[in-house]
Amino acid sequence: MRLDIVTIFPEYLEPLNVSLVGKARARGQLDVRIHDLREWTHDRHNTVDDTPYGGGPGMVMKPEPWGEALDSIIESGSGSGDSGDGSADASGDGFDGAEAARPVLVVPTPSGKPFTQQLAVELSEKPWLVFTPARYEGIDRRVIEEYGDRLDVREVSIGDYVLAGGEAPVLVMVEAIARLLPGVLGNAESHRDDSFAPGAMADLLEGPVYTKPPQWRGRGIPDVLLSGHHGKIARWRRDEAFRRTVENRPDLIHRADPAAFDKKDRET
Ligand code: ADE
Repeated sequence: MRLDIVTIFPEYLEPLNVSLVGKARARGQLDVRIHDLREWTHDRHNTVDDTPYGGGPGMVMKPEPWGEALDSIIESGSGSGDSGDGSADASGDGFDGAEAARPVLVVPTPSGKPFTQQLAVELSEKPWLVFTPARYEGIDRRVIEEYGDRLDVREVSIGDYVLAGGEAPVLVMVEAIARLLPGVLGNAESHRDDSFAPGAMADLLEGPVYTKPPQWRGRGIPDVLLSGHHGKIARWRRDEAFRRTVENRPDLIHRADPAAFDKKDRET
């Protein structure tokens, strides 16, 4: 998978060099390219913002640098398939597909549709994503319209709060997407029981987990986990997931399919 990120704070994205995403990059499973938006400005001050039409507080990001940046990135994908860094399809994992395809444009904004596990799964199946984290009051609307005519554009919010910019949301989204790519998580089963993962436990939050030692500060672990009885352990995990969901996210219970509930759940 290829990811391009255009930002005025490239250093904000340095966490993409560490841990799961950093390793996926090093292994050639992820081709991440970070671009400085100011490289597509032409004035002495590398201006990327201006005052809003109609008045009001704050500044708006100018359309011209975004247009030039996005044209250049999209164009880079319609060439020979050689990314120039020697990484293109080195692992035979489909980077070449990205070169031929058009990217999905992901625009982080508090006014967007919610970023959910379902959207993470959908985006993880695309060969190429371009992220446009904005600062100030956002990007001139005409940029979204312009690329909406040519590309699949997703305006996405990571939650009902306002951050100072879209870089932190990009870190969140890239991590959620990257861990779904084949071979990126050590144990392929690790996301099977994730909260929000599709399957029998869909719409239930993940329950509590324990490891050694069996006693810590006078606290033990639930006996059932030592019983070796897989059926009972699965039942206990489901009950705990249900309990935690009722407590922390009752909205998810209302959304869930009642057919997936047990008689016991309905009595809770
Ligand atoms: N930019 C600022 N706040 C944001 C949010 N909640 N989600 C996505 N992008 C943002």
